[in-house]
Amino acid sequence: MPCTVIVGAQWGDEGKGKIVDTLAERADVVARYQGGNNAGHTLVLGEETYKLRLVPSGVLWPGTLCVLGNGCVIDPEVLMEELDGLEERGVDLSGVRISGNAHLIMPWHRIIDADSELMLGRLQIGTTRRGIGPAYADKASRVGIRVQDLLDEKILRQKIQTALSVKNVLLRKIYHQRPLDKDVLTEATLRYAERIRPFIADTSLLVNQALDAGQVVLCEGAQATLLDLDHGTYPFVTSSNPIAAGACVGLGFGPTRVDAVLGVAKAYVTRVGAGGFPSEADEADSTRIREHGGEYGTVTGRERRCGWLDVVALRYAARLNGLTQLALTKLDVLSIFESIPVCTAYRLPDGSVTEDFPWHQSDFHHAQPVYERLEGWSTDISAVRDAGQLPRAARDYLAFIEERVGVEVAIVGIGQRRDQIITLRDVLEAA
Ligand code: GDP
Ligand code: IMO
Ligand code: MG
Repeated sequence: MPCTVIVGAQWGDEGKGKIVDTLAERADVVARYQGGNNAGHTLVLGEETYKLRLVPSGVLWPGTLCVLGNGCVIDPEVLMEELDGLEERGVDLSGVRISGNAHLIMPWHRIIDADSELMLGRLQIGTTRRGIGPAYADKASRVGIRVQDLLDEKILRQKIQTALSVKNVLLRKIYHQRPLDKDVLTEATLRYAERIRPFIADTSLLVNQALDAGQVVLCEGAQATLLDLDHGTYPFVTSSNPIAAGACVGLGFGPTRVDAVLGVAKAYVTRVGAGGFPSEADEADSTRIREHGGEYGTVTGRERRCGWLDVVALRYAARLNGLTQLALTKLDVLSIFESIPVCTAYRLPDGSVTEDFPWHQSDFHHAQPVYERLEGWSTDISAVRDAGQLPRAARDYLAFIEERVGVEVAIVGIGQRRDQIITLRDVLEAA
């Protein structure tokens, strides 16, 4: 499919990076449409591991146009570090393009993010503290500084000065922090600007030109459906729209251009940060999954909370994103279990049982999982490359998900490495 959106179907870290990297071999463009360096996308090629935070997961395929769209928020210091790190490892960056309309994460955003969390105490969201929320808030308030402001020193100086005249009052009076020095901050930002300038472009035009030419465009989501600002488990969400519709806004093309939406889900569920999680496993099973699946945050190193596949939430993701196919990752991790619970419904506080994701926060927070138990396969599947070689119980697990979610599984992940993948259906078949 020429234009495919690849979207997280759970609470993030589903293995989007690996799936995008695999499909990118046949793509002309890979474009991130939202989020910032709260994302951590891991690519493993043989002995080499790449942890990408901003740069799209197509960057390891030379010649691929790698776009950071207008919907992203960009910390220039982090971007510079990432570009330098990739270049040092011999990665070709000639295809990287950054939207001039993307917003910058400035130091005050990071401070406000971290301090707001501290002030919330027990009520904190558990953000990545990378300044994501405050940067998007300034964008919505129309006081943000954009990537294009890096192109003109005079404008940049002026914008930093104007912003600091307000932010420094906030930092001092509300957050009890030392004010930021205008000159020091401007000089640092100008250094990042020097590095970033050559990559700035009209990315909406580039992506639309690629689509007009019938090229293969992969739109890479960061975060995930249940972290969506509008449709996720608010307030325990991120500050952008990771759902597939966000690709149109975050890259600048019309909804009629999208051909397919691939949802990426783990064969179980993890969540980092606070918020409801009906199918969260008990301590013992959560620890087993975490250790076997390496469930520690790519960005923050935090332990991920682990639980069982939640079909209610996955059907919600199918609905919100219009999923056409699923990539089910980390099936190998479930090999350690003799039987596997799958959450197929929620019991709500009023005693009713529902298969629909509750719209009301109180229902969601008090939802009790209703499990069906499926047989495990108790055998190593990490070397399987053909679905026919999967144990019967593993095939039954996939069939169960397809039937209950109503979306076909096109890809199955059975290990970290790029080649540890089973292709059941060709996601880019019409391309
Ligand atoms: P993303 O944010 O969605 O790109 O996912 P992350 O990279 O943050 O987290 C996914 C983790 O699982 C990474 O360490 C991947 O290398 C790893 N991973 C991805 N797919 C598979 C798989 O099929 N099996 C196993 N065992 N690990 C996988
Ligand atoms: P990738 O792209 C998992 C979570 C944070 C927190 C909430 C808000 O790697 O899947 P934020 O810093 O965005 O304001 O934090 O969202 N979160 C993620 N969880 N994977 C991510 O990205 C995440 N990005 C943000 O833990 O609960
Ligand atoms: Mg991640």
